[in-house]
Amino acid sequence: MPARIIGTGSALPELVVTNKELERIMDTTDEWITSRTGIRKRHIAVRETTTSMAVKAAEIAVKKAGIEPEEIDLILVGTVSGDKCFPSTACEIQASLRAVDAVAFDINAACAGFLFGLTIADTYFQSGKAKTALVVGAETLSKMVDWKDRSTCVLFGDGAGAAVVRKEENGILHIVQGSDGGCGNALTCDNRPVESPFVRKPFTKEFFAGGAFEKESQSHGQFVEEAYDYLKMDGQAVFRFAVRTVPKAIGQVLDEAGILPDDIKYFFLHQANIRIIEAVAKKLAQPIEKFPTNLQKCGNISAASVPILLDHVNQEEKLKKGDKIVLAGFGAGLTWGAAVLTW
Ligand code: ACO
Repeated sequence: MPARIIGTGSALPELVVTNKELERIMDTTDEWITSRTGIRKRHIAVRETTTSMAVKAAEIAVKKAGIEPEEIDLILVGTVSGDKCFPSTACEIQASLRAVDAVAFDINAACAGFLFGLTIADTYFQSGKAKTALVVGAETLSKMVDWKDRSTCVLFGDGAGAAVVRKEENGILHIVQGSDGGCGNALTCDNRPVESPFVRKPFTKEFFAGGAFEKESQSHGQFVEEAYDYLKMDGQAVFRFAVRTVPKAIGQVLDEAGILPDDIKYFFLHQANIRIIEAVAKKLAQPIEKFPTNLQKCGNISAASVPILLDHVNQEEKLKKGDKIVLAGFGAGLTWGAAVLTW
């Protein structure tokens, strides 16, 4: 279904933390981080929240699109680090923007969240249920990583990116997506565990009859341990998955749309690791200059990576109407998606 991105926006936390600064709080080096990943610094939320950054990015995108919030039919937010279990970040954006006619919900597809959002928007466009969608990726990964685990915490940053997408006759939007739950253990983060009074003692008649249940329930708060989990990653498995899957997905989306890689102006890839991006460029036989990056100053911001990068390049006025671009995301799930569209 033809569609076009008509406005982009992004928001990053004020605090910037360099690799050199990380050296002071953990056993790592700027040299290790830079040579393995390309990352030199990242923005870390202190006062900002996933919602506050998402709202800021969305407001900018809506303003740049030149539309009124009431014109938005659909608000989709890719996030694994919303501030609340509910309401969703998407509903909070809706309230803040007063986009009163929109349907709003979040998507859990990790670093492919923005691509999954575009796919859902496209499906709504095709079914006639929507004409204008606000698709957002927003993350505060600094609260999901274990700051004692140097192999993961140095990789991630916080931020949000947004795009207003409109059904339009002269655009192109073709998307492929995929999931492989069987390999999901490569990248995990558990949710809060079940810890009601009922899991602490066997649920037997004798226990309840003796008054022990009431006693334990009353002291419940005193012995609940902080049991929140942190992000865990098998880095090499994720690396192999990305290098294998992303070129394939991009090849498929271009093939199905009847577009050659040479006709693409820019490939906007999820900003996980410069070595992954170099490997994808090589496999597609495309010059690395066609792969914009901002991971050097932002790190990996999961679902927010692709829309933030898109906004940064858009702000530099490097995109002209009619340019063909590819967007690709991949991450936990495992999940992936690739889209080709005209600017
Ligand atoms: N500083 C210094 N040394 C470190 C650090 C660090 N921050 N982290 C790990 N090391 C050490 C390890 O302890 C290990 O030491 P050892 O050899 O003495 O045991 C050594 O460095 C090598 O560790 P590896 O994990 O084997 O390093 P590798 O070369 O695989 O690089 C990396 C790790 C950068 C994570 C790489 O595997 C990678 O980029 N994978 C892809 C990950 C990714 O892209 N994830 C995101 C996609 S999904 C998403 O975005 C949520």
